[in-house]
Amino acid sequence: MTHTAKSYDHLLGKLPGLSEAQLKAHFGLYQGYVNKMNEIGTNLQKADLKTCNYSFAPTSELLRRYSVAHNGTLLHELYFENLSPTPKPVGAELKQAIDGNFGSMEHLQALLRAGILSGHGWSLLTLCNHTGRLSVSFIEEHHRGILADQRILLSVDGWEHAYMIDYGTKKPDYLNTLDKTLCWGTASERFLKAK
Ligand SMILES: [Fe+2]
Repeated sequence: MTHTAKSYDHLLGKLPGLSEAQLKAHFGLYQGYVNKMNEIGTNLQKADLKTCNYSFAPTSELLRRYSVAHNGTLLHELYFENLSPTPKPVGAELKQAIDGNFGSMEHLQALLRAGILSGHGWSLLTLCNHTGRLSVSFIEEHHRGILADQRILLSVDGWEHAYMIDYGTKKPDYLNTLDKTLCWGTASERFLKAK
């Protein structure tokens, strides 16, 4: 079954600090991950499963790279869906959990920012289905460092393509503008749904 890319055109021209050109380029890149996820899935349906090998085999490479396309698709959808021109504040239940896990909202936000500044990838706020704890994790590329059994509450794209058109190499300026568009209300809804 193939995945259909979602439209986030309603965000164009609406997010302060992120231009239409920046967002359109980003939407196009997201479409590429959707295409690759579908392409790999289709190829795996007819792949030679007898030659898989640690060193190299075409099917092994399809399996190795599937997480890149899959996570590249889903992390972008979660990211675009937790951006808003009118972001809502964190809900009481999630705020209580944040205070319990991180000490304060400010410390959590600093952790998310530190993750983004740690390399090319993503900062995620997640809820562990197994332990019930909240975590901040830094995901290199799209697939390295994913914690097991997590529900993603907030996804922050730290790849250069997310901000280069508007901010060049000034990643901190991009992060400053994200503070105005990250919707903690969406994270709170995901938290309540996961509980
Ligand atoms: Fe991205």
